[in-house]
Amino acid sequence: MNSLTKHLKKSIEIIENNKNNLHSDLWRLNFHLMPPIGWLNDPNGLCYFKGEYHIFFQYSPFNVNGELKFWGHYKSKDLINWEYLGVPLLPDQPFDCHGTYSGSALIEDEKMYLYYTGNVKYSGENYDYINNGRGSNTILAISDGNNIISKKCLLTNEDYPKNFTCHIRDPKVWKENDNYYMVLGGRTKEDKGVILLYKSLDKINWNFLNIIENKNKFGYMWECPDLFNLDNKTILMISPQGVEEQGYKYQNIYQSGYYILNGDYKTNNYSLNEFTEIDRGFDFYAPQTFLDNKNRRILIGWFGLPDIENFYTNKTIEKGWQHALTIPRVLKIISNKIYQQPIEELKSLRKEQLNIENNKIYNIDCCFELLIENILNDITIKLENDVIIQFKENLFTLKFDSDKLGCGRTSRSVEINNCNKLQIFVDYSSIEIFINDGEEVFSTRFYPNEKNIILEIDGNGNNTLYPLNSFSIK
Ligand code: FRU
Repeated sequence: MNSLTKHLKKSIEIIENNKNNLHSDLWRLNFHLMPPIGWLNDPNGLCYFKGEYHIFFQYSPFNVNGELKFWGHYKSKDLINWEYLGVPLLPDQPFDCHGTYSGSALIEDEKMYLYYTGNVKYSGENYDYINNGRGSNTILAISDGNNIISKKCLLTNEDYPKNFTCHIRDPKVWKENDNYYMVLGGRTKEDKGVILLYKSLDKINWNFLNIIENKNKFGYMWECPDLFNLDNKTILMISPQGVEEQGYKYQNIYQSGYYILNGDYKTNNYSLNEFTEIDRGFDFYAPQTFLDNKNRRILIGWFGLPDIENFYTNKTIEKGWQHALTIPRVLKIISNKIYQQPIEELKSLRKEQLNIENNKIYNIDCCFELLIENILNDITIKLENDVIIQFKENLFTLKFDSDKLGCGRTSRSVEINNCNKLQIFVDYSSIEIFINDGEEVFSTRFYPNEKNIILEIDGNGNNTLYPLNSFSIK
């Protein structure tokens, strides 16, 4: 370990141990992974390794608004009891000195192969950091599950195809037969978001294979790609930037969603179905998936978005931290559409159930799962008389009636034919709504003033409310 690495690790330990004011913070979440202090963004390196789930995340311990990125690390045997393992991946080499950016994990030979982007910003007056002034290196870090054993820079901007800006990043790597494949998100010189596909025989030497793109431009940059098989379909998941709002669609600053890929994307003999958003709420971005030992395809997203300052804010900034990861969701396909269901492990957090009658007012602790089944008509759920969750005339809406709790968040909707079932997870300052067993999902943050909130349901379904226990985090 060089002395810069040691110094950085020590400084992070000190700052993490000084986080006293978080204890008096009513917006800390009970069953979501958060940064110990400072800023969190994308989930990284998701994997199941030697009997444990490992979740890394983009982490800026020194600044609640981001900037220099590290990888923080949690692990768990059951997705409920967690251990925080600190910050294994640090920007401590010339090829990653302005941030160890997002990436993925490949498990082989009892090792974790962590592929990520080393961000480098050169200093100079005339750089625009789009076409020049930035290095986006593809790096392989090998880990034993706890520590990084080695880091090697595999590709630099010189190696990428010539018609690209400096924005190429977020490798997702997988093995297929005896070959390895990698997708990277990129921005071409014509400001079009596309995917670069690479192939390797040894995990180290990579050859460019193909571009995967939407023939009609869909945004100027595609971040955090993921490509996987789900129920015999090939899914390309991306987080595009620069997509214009279209009615209820694409209302956030940046989007995340997926295409079903038909044909052979390794040659040019492929086509993409329509892009579908994966989450309709205000706070969701950069999802990644992995396969676990039960062969479940599990998705975790960043419970947040970058560059939201002109639209809304997060009150936790006052407390020295910002953002979280969403609850893990299991994916499946029904009629060409991805459905997302909360992992069943969360049921173990349920305390004794409460029956909630329709059209009555309840004052409850703001950490619960609300299940509403057999909904026959329209329904309106109100939290604190300000957050409105509603299905009416084929439109599902999540909206804030005033600026009190939403801090600038307004209204998001999706058109659906019916709403029979709702499963809603509320965790002090977050809400995740699963409609019809995950046909649509809305995720949002909100900032109530008390640990207890007022709940009222105006509908005709059967309501069950489970107050929830907390994750244990060592
Ligand atoms: C997505 C993203 C990635 C990048 C990372 C940096 O939120 O911009 O493209 O690798 O965050 O933290």
